[in-house]
Order: sequence, then C-alpha cells, then structure tokens
Amino acid sequence: MTRKKIIAGNWKMFTTVSAGVALATEINMGLQTRDLSNKKAIVIPPYTHIHAIINAVGANGNLGVGAQNCHQQKEGAYTGEISPVTLKEMGASYVIIGHSERRQYFNETEELLNAKIKAALAEGLTVIYCIGETLSQRESDTHFAVIEAQIKGGLEDISTEEMNNIILAYEPVWAIGTGKVASPAQAQEIHQFIRGLINAKYGNAVAKNICIQYGGSMKPENAAELLSQPDIDGGLIGGAALKAEQFLAIIDAA
Ligand code: PGA
Repeated sequence: MTRKKIIAGNWKMFTTVSAGVALATEINMGLQTRDLSNKKAIVIPPYTHIHAIINAVGANGNLGVGAQNCHQQKEGAYTGEISPVTLKEMGASYVIIGHSERRQYFNETEELLNAKIKAALAEGLTVIYCIGETLSQRESDTHFAVIEAQIKGGLEDISTEEMNNIILAYEPVWAIGTGKVASPAQAQEIHQFIRGLINAKYGNAVAKNICIQYGGSMKPENAAELLSQPDIDGGLIGGAALKAEQFLAIIDAA
C-alpha cells in the first residue's frame, strides 16, 4: 500500500493576512529539511490570504495551498461568495467542501455540496470532502447510516475518473475543537467502512487509491497512533495547524 499521507491545516477564520504569510513561510521552511517522498502538506487559510501565501512560498513548491469553501456557480449575483474560478486563478489547488461548520452554520445540504464538488472539480481543484456524525447521531447508533448518506449524496454523479481528485475527510463532529479525539480503533472502524462504500461504488482501484483523512483534535501527541491505522491516510487539522511547530510535528508523525 503506497498511499501518500496528506496533512492539511484548516485555519478556519484565524490569522490576519500578515500573520498567515508568516505562518505559511515558517511551515514551508520547516518542510525544506524533511523527507516528503511519501507525504504532502497543505495549508488552507482564509481566501484573502491565498494569493499572498502563494507569492511567499511559491506555486509549485512543497506546500500546497487550498480554500475552505467555494460557491457552486462560476459567477453571478451572489454577494459575498467566492467562485472556484477565482480560487483557481489565485493559485489554490485544493478546496474543502462540506466542513461540519458549513453544514451546521450555513445549512449546507448534501445536494448543495454535490453541486459545489462538481463546480470545484470542473475548475481542476482537488476537493477535500468532509463527512462525519454528530454526538447525538453516534449515541443513537446512526453514525454508519449518516456517513453512508453523506457519501451517497455528496458524490452523486461523480465519475470514477473524477474520484482521482477527491480526498475524503472523516471528521466526527464531537471531536472537532473539543479535545475529544476519536480513538484510533474508532476512527479506523469508520475509515474502513468508508473505503468499503467507495469500493462498492467505484471498485477496488479507486478504493485502494483514495486518501481518507481523519480530522478532530488531531495533535502531535495522538497523530502517530491515528496515522498508523491501515485506513487513515492523513489528517485535517484545525487548532494544531495554527502553530508551525505543532503542524510540522504532525507531518513528522505521518
Ligand atoms: P480541530 O479541527 O483539529 O481543531 O479539532 C479540525 C477541523 O475542523 O477540521
């Protein structure tokens, strides 16, 4: 199994432009001395930072740059929204779609997320599609059904070929920003389940190839054990991605 470990830092609405450039520069410097043959590092700052960060770290260097969301249309009268076309032009290579904070605070449904995924793929962006159950869904033992519905709805009409440009991120909502991390066994169980769903829909080659990240309170202290599980192929990191030293330590654990 030679899946690359992909470690992505989701900065959410943290850092100013100048602080973000400094953070990305520090991370990028740290990458220069590391062996990245089997891993990839990505930073996902607010939209406003993307251009400045790419100017600072270079477009084709070790550090990938992404966005946290995009609109499902190329352009239009959608005040305050951002087009995937613009993200691509700014130099972003990745976009998160369906983060639980978008689902929760902006009422993003599977149908909408499916449209966003298609729009992002059409511009050549790699999508990080987030899925995961809430605490009450886990407690009522519906988490497998919830995840299955998120995969089915979000990936509707996505072709086998397009799956090459999709990363999945399993983020149990109860573990995000709470310090309550899923145990390696709990996470592995779901990751294996997700890979099985992909196998059933797209076949073995896609299932073997797809990167399934874990997200939710991943830190330097717990990263190595999570990342050593056979179906955990990386991390989507929130809080610990805002400190270069911690983010680099997670990359070292991969
Ligand atoms: P966290 O966030 O690492 O702070 O829990 C993860 C995420 O929201 O992607």
